[in-house]
Amino acid sequence: MVNRKRITTLTEFIVQRQSEYPHAKGALTRLLNDIATAAKIVNRDINAAGLVDILGYEGKENIQGEAQKKLDVFANEQFVTALKGGAECCAIASEENEKIISFNNEFSELGKYVVAIDPLDGSSNIEANVSIGTIFSIYRRVSEVGEGGKVEDMLQPGINQVAAGYVIYGSSTMLVYTTGKGVNGFTLDPSVGIFCLSHPDMMFPETGSVYSINEGNYIYFPQGIKQYIKYCQESDKNTLRPYTSRYIGSLVADFHRNLIRGGIFLYPGTTTKPSGKLRLLYECNPVAFIAEQAGGKASDGFNRIMEKQPKTLHERSPLFIGPKSMVEKAEEFMRQYKE
Ligand code: AHG
Ligand code: MN
Ligand code: MN
Repeated sequence: MVNRKRITTLTEFIVQRQSEYPHAKGALTRLLNDIATAAKIVNRDINAAGLVDILGYEGKENIQGEAQKKLDVFANEQFVTALKGGAECCAIASEENEKIISFNNEFSELGKYVVAIDPLDGSSNIEANVSIGTIFSIYRRVSEVGEGGKVEDMLQPGINQVAAGYVIYGSSTMLVYTTGKGVNGFTLDPSVGIFCLSHPDMMFPETGSVYSINEGNYIYFPQGIKQYIKYCQESDKNTLRPYTSRYIGSLVADFHRNLIRGGIFLYPGTTTKPSGKLRLLYECNPVAFIAEQAGGKASDGFNRIMEKQPKTLHERSPLFIGPKSMVEKAEEFMRQYKE
C-alpha cells in the first residue's frame, strides 16, 4: 500500500486555529472558508480562460480609470457573492468598485467583519499566462452591528487587521494567510478541489539576493531609490551582491517569490505618481501584515505601512517590502537622499 502522509486541509487547519482564540465563535473561520470557496471558482475560470471567450476587455473603466478585464469583473462578482451569502461580513471595499458595497440584509447586518479586496491582482498579465492573484484584508467593524457596514469600518490602519492573505494562481494555486500568529500556505489539489497545508510557518530568509522593481520608471525615481538600485548592483560577497533582478508585474507573484527566496519588492513614489501605484487598503496592508508575521518588514520608505491612517478607500502608498535587513537598507538610502 502507498504510504501517504496525513494531510491537513485548510478547513481543518482554520478550525484547529480557532481554538487558540478563546472567545471565537467561528465567524472568522466561516469568513475565511467563504473566501477560499470563491478563490476556487476564480481559479477554475482562470485555468479555462484560454479556452473560452472570457479574455479581453469588459469595455468599462474602473474607478482608477484603468481598463477592466472580463476576469477582473468576474472575480469581483465571485468574492462579493460569496461574502454576501456567508453573512459574516457586513461590507466590502473592492478595487473594482468606487464605493463600498454595504450588505443590507437581516443576516449580513449582524456580520462583525468587513473585507478589503483586490479580486484580481496583476490582471494585465492574464493574456500572457503569467501568475496573477487575489489579495484580501479583514477588519472587525467599528460601526454598530445591526446595519450595513460603513466607510469608517474600512478606513482603519493596517495594525487593526484581524486576518489577511492572498491567493496566487500560478504553476500551482496557493492560498497564504495570517491571523496574526504566523503565516501558513496551502496548495490547491485540483483533483479534489481542496487546499492542503504545504508551507507551514512561512518565514522570510534573514536576507536575500533578489530585488524587484519596475526599472522602466528609473528616470522618475527619487534619488534614494536610484542610489539603492546602484547598491543592489554593486559587488560584495558579504551581502550577496550583486543581487539578481526579478520583476513579474503582479504584486502577489513578486511578493510570494521573494518570501520564499528572500528578496525585496519596491514600488516607490515617482515624480509622476508621488504615492506610487499600489493601493494601501487592499494591496499594501495585507502583504504588510503577512510580511511582518513572516519576520519581514513593510514601509513606505520612511514609515511603517500598517500604521498609516487611510483617508480614502482607494488611496495609494509607496511600498518597500521584504526581509527586515533589506528593507532597512533601502530606508537608509531614502533618508540619506531625502529631497
Ligand atoms: P492590478 O492588476 O490589481 O491593477 O494590480 C497591478 C499592480 C501590481 O500587481 C503590480 O505590482 C503593479 O501593478 C505593477 O505595476 P507596473 O506595471 O507599473 O510595474
Ligand atoms: Mn492589484
Ligand atoms: Mn486588481
